Amino acid sequence: MARTPIGTPAVSAALTLDGLTVDFAGFRAVDTVSTIVEAGELRVLLGANGAGKTTLMDLVSGKTRPTAGHVYLGDTEITGLEEHRIAQAGLGRKFQIPSVFRDLGVRRNIEVAACRNPSVFANLRLGFSPEQTRRVEEILDLVGLNAKQEVEAGSLSHGETQWLELGMLMAQDPKLILLDEPTAGMTEAETMKTAAIIKAMRGRHTLIVVEHDMAFVKEIATRITVMHLGRILAEGSVAEIEANAEVKAAYLGSKGIQ
Ligand SMILES: Nc1ncnc2c1ncn2[C@@H]1O[C@H](COP(=O)(O)OP(=O)(O)OP(=O)(O)O)[C@@H](O)[C@H]1O
Ligand SMILES: [Mg+2]
Repeated sequence: MARTPIGTPAVSAALTLDGLTVDFAGFRAVDTVSTIVEAGELRVLLGANGAGKTTLMDLVSGKTRPTAGHVYLGDTEITGLEEHRIAQAGLGRKFQIPSVFRDLGVRRNIEVAACRNPSVFANLRLGFSPEQTRRVEEILDLVGLNAKQEVEAGSLSHGETQWLELGMLMAQDPKLILLDEPTAGMTEAETMKTAAIIKAMRGRHTLIVVEHDMAFVKEIATRITVMHLGRILAEGSVAEIEANAEVKAAYLGSKGIQ
């Protein structure tokens, strides 16, 4: 059954998905997904393997074209646009393989990312303003790389590289940030530090985070969307999702959220 179309995006919406659907040779990986992510929100996307979470991010970022439905970034429709056009429209995405400049220093990486923001780029020829310098330093602090700001990015550890990439996304300041399993391959200590960074991003940035680690999800989540077989099964707070019988049956099993 199709969901009711959302229609014109609300003023405060950072992302509006309206009946978003994709078929791969007859297999419907994402099925009439509709939701609104408010500006400043941190939305966690949960679901079993193959539920369609990464495919949903691919549809938003333009890596995959939808078969049906609409995507709005703010009040701009971005449905079917090429990936680089969607990035220009204000979408930032973190990939499994980090896109840091390995030969450049940590601080320089953050500065280069800040230049992708056109208003900053215009000012770069004149050097960074005191506010921009302060923001770069604030970001270096937030991601815990202040002491390593002159170190070449290529020599950072796995965790540090992920944090640098988060810092670069903050510097770029897109309208919406997509993070697909940002703690993959991390130790428990690195995972908790990543949770702290993402919590610090909350409010100032709008994020959608796919994550399996429930301790991590409970740490960062305000609102959770649960996907199952390409559809939205439930949406709500951590407590609502934990208490949802359908979610327990379909995804979390009888033992509930661990
Ligand atoms: N290009 C494609 N062609 C055909 N099927 C695809 C394609 N991309 C994804 N799928 C299928 O769509 C379904 C959803 O995959 P997706 O990667 O979005 O799941 P996921 O929720 O991200 O899972 P995981 O938690 O394992 O990362 C899977 O059954 C997958 O095999
Ligand atoms: Mg995935």
